[in-house]
Amino acid sequence: MRVLLTGSSGWLGRFLAPVLRESGHAVTGLDVAPGVDTDVLGSVADRALLERVFAERGIEAVIHAGGLHKPDIARYSAQTFVEVNVTGTLNLIECAVAAGHDRFVFTSTTSLMISQAIRDEAGDAAVWLDETSGPIEPRNIYGVTKLAAEGLCRIAWLEQGLATIVLRTSRFFPEDDDTHRTPSGENLKANEFLHRRLTVEDAARAHLVALERAPAVGHGVFVISAPTPFARGDCAELKRDAAGVIARAFPDAAALYAARNWTLPTSIGRVYDAERAERVLGFRCETDFAAVLAALRDGAPLPFAHDPAYVSPKEPAR
Ligand SMILES: NC(=O)c1ccc[n+]([C@@H]2O[C@H](COP(=O)([O-])OP(=O)(O)OC[C@H]3O[C@@H](n4cnc5c(N)ncnc54)[C@H](O)[C@@H]3O)[C@@H](O)[C@H]2O)c1
Repeated sequence: MRVLLTGSSGWLGRFLAPVLRESGHAVTGLDVAPGVDTDVLGSVADRALLERVFAERGIEAVIHAGGLHKPDIARYSAQTFVEVNVTGTLNLIECAVAAGHDRFVFTSTTSLMISQAIRDEAGDAAVWLDETSGPIEPRNIYGVTKLAAEGLCRIAWLEQGLATIVLRTSRFFPEDDDTHRTPSGENLKANEFLHRRLTVEDAARAHLVALERAPAVGHGVFVISAPTPFARGDCAELKRDAAGVIARAFPDAAALYAARNWTLPTSIGRVYDAERAERVLGFRCETDFAAVLAALRDGAPLPFAHDPAYVSPKEPAR
């Protein structure tokens, strides 16, 4: 298909564009920042530009991965978040409907499920999060605008019959966490594969599967994250003694970590459950916590990217 990929210069976009091409799709990349996979420089908020791109390039499907995300809260106004994440999504959906498309894939975020209370981890058990979790009370403008965009996807299906797949992806960014400093870098990312991270390669693959499955599914929201080794019944113990639960599932984890001077989490406050994506879309991440441990055991390179210096390409070099 002739696919419009927004955010083609970004971290996800630079992995997703080649995945789409290798599967036989012709990709038009659109981004406000230049990149090797970006053919059109411009904003999703620019409706006239989108109409021109759809017409000139004969676009047949959209994967909408571009936009402002969590680190951008410090750099952009709430109004800009609304223009890019909400109006931009509406523009793309309306262009897709006008062009008679039968599918639309939207990159959303698990972050919108995190209320202030969940973030504070005040409860005495970990919070188990899947597509049925609610009420959804995003705690910042990023989550609020992503949730609004999800709603636009839902009504595009209900009112216009455009199949819309919403991928609520967990973390795949390569840079350091903007709030947590300990444990640092690779150790924190490795820990997150237990309950709240996936590789960017798996994120890219999920989008390809969503594109292919969309017409059969209709509308659906899917949590996309590495399969967690935990079960709902572990939630109280995860909060109290995460290392104990981890030791049962992975008896050599503590020793492998110690050999690298890493630390396992002592307490886990939330778990993302991606089981629905596996059941309905047939998608499962290839890289999980067991793969991280296997790399430690074998002395192999870690199976995830870590780049503390990564900055979104739209930001001027400092
Ligand atoms: N990185 C993560 O861990 C993570 C987690 C969950 C969801 N997401 C979502 O994944 C998507 C991709 O994020 P990423 O990590 O690759 O971030 P990124 O910042 O590297 O890429 C986003 C891209 O969108 C582009 N963009 C920004 N405003 C635009 C506009 N108005 N029009 C067109 N393009 C625009 C940027 O220039 C950038 O290239 C985003 O929708 C983000 O919300 C990311």
